[in-house]
Amino acid sequence: AVPTPHWRPAYHFTPPANWTNDPNGLVFLNGEFNLYYQHNPFENKWGHMSWGHATSKDLIAWKHLPVAIPEVITKDTTTWIYSGSVVLDKSNTSGFGINGKPPLVAIFTADQPKQKKESQFIAYSNDGGLSYKQYSHNPVIDLNMHDFRDPNVFWYQPTQQWIMTVSMVDDHMVRFYGSKNLKDWNKLSDFGPAGFTKNGWECPSLLPLVVDGNPDNIKWVLFVSSGGEHGPLIQYFVGDFDGITFKSVNETNKVLKVDYGDAFYAAIAWRDAPENKKILLGWLQNGRQETYPWKGQMSIPHDLSLKTTGDGLVLNQLPSVFVTRALHKYATGKVIEKTNIDINGAGLKLPGNGNAYWIDAEFDIRNARKAGFNVVGKAGTDKKVTLGYDAEKQLLFVDCTGSEKDNKSPENLIQTAPMKAINGIVKVKVLLDRSSLEVFGNDGEKVISTMIYPDKDATGLALFSEGAAVVKSLKMWN
Ligand code: FRU
Repeated sequence: AVPTPHWRPAYHFTPPANWTNDPNGLVFLNGEFNLYYQHNPFENKWGHMSWGHATSKDLIAWKHLPVAIPEVITKDTTTWIYSGSVVLDKSNTSGFGINGKPPLVAIFTADQPKQKKESQFIAYSNDGGLSYKQYSHNPVIDLNMHDFRDPNVFWYQPTQQWIMTVSMVDDHMVRFYGSKNLKDWNKLSDFGPAGFTKNGWECPSLLPLVVDGNPDNIKWVLFVSSGGEHGPLIQYFVGDFDGITFKSVNETNKVLKVDYGDAFYAAIAWRDAPENKKILLGWLQNGRQETYPWKGQMSIPHDLSLKTTGDGLVLNQLPSVFVTRALHKYATGKVIEKTNIDINGAGLKLPGNGNAYWIDAEFDIRNARKAGFNVVGKAGTDKKVTLGYDAEKQLLFVDCTGSEKDNKSPENLIQTAPMKAINGIVKVKVLLDRSSLEVFGNDGEKVISTMIYPDKDATGLALFSEGAAVVKSLKMWN
């Protein structure tokens, strides 16, 4: 394989080497965000599933740690450590704690390919999450099923018990279980089928989110990942949870999408972060090109909330405040700041410094049909990726057709999200990081996340418009 250092992100997580897919076991402990991740420690492709591990104080700089839960191979069985979660068992309900120190407990799917079986296992850590011991009476839930996975667990105060959501993949259902000790689990209820059901359901999780910034107004949101019509899809349901049953208030048949790109999948959240933040992290991958010596990366972490809109209660996502605070620390060179730039056709060129930057921009599009940025432009050619706002179609968009070919699914090269301008103004955040591109519209109303694969020297960056647009303000960090 050919090394691709120019595609290695600068401010997103990648494993030092080899494959990653889903984020796992997101837990905040002693001032550090712990990230476990689906990992093949031996190859740059899926297999030997184990939990890789890294920690960060600010969600940008990661310290890489040894594999925390390796695959287990015996004479008769191979056990792969599929996706799951980690909880801090503060009052030692599990009894795994020693010397008054609360244990961390990992709850995950054991996939046994020879037996064609998936069941739920637990393992515990007494060294702050560096290593885990498998519980001697695993599995803790066994339905003798092939596709039954991705337990996500949290403490539910009102009934003083642990709640698990886990996927009945081919039934398009999320099953809820309750437990007092993380070992004995009782079925509480099922949710689904509902919404998008054309492909198997994976990685469910249920989160309480604040509505309209009012901490006394909480709604529950259930996230479910599945293959969509084109590439990955994470759908969400807004509703109520009474400790036993989740009831969605979504309009029937309407599928609510977390992300409108072709790369954001299997996202789960840090639910115990400081300042009561609920921080979603997804796996980014669209597989159009090989990267080496790593494959797969994490998204920028998103702070989540709910907003009342004309379309009802919808999810709002912004790059986490922990990331934006740290941005200033890592940004090199001067922050570029500009106001009231007129663009009509080709616009201002900006320094594309190595394709690792962050832009916050506000466009006045009252007299424009389209406005935005041409990124990863290649000098002497018209190769580029175009992104921004299409005022005629009322769409936030990323268009990769000017940069790449995709014979398998050419429709994936253009990604759009319906979005309205507010009094003629559209806000766009562009997070370009070598091979990942995340575009946030209107303060987190819509997100498009994708992967792009520009040539090494394709670092051109410029504003553009069709018709006359005005950039009211622009800030750029390298
Ligand atoms: C989602 C997924 C999960 C599973 C894991 C295996 O990408 O298929 O359902 O636990 O990946 O790596």
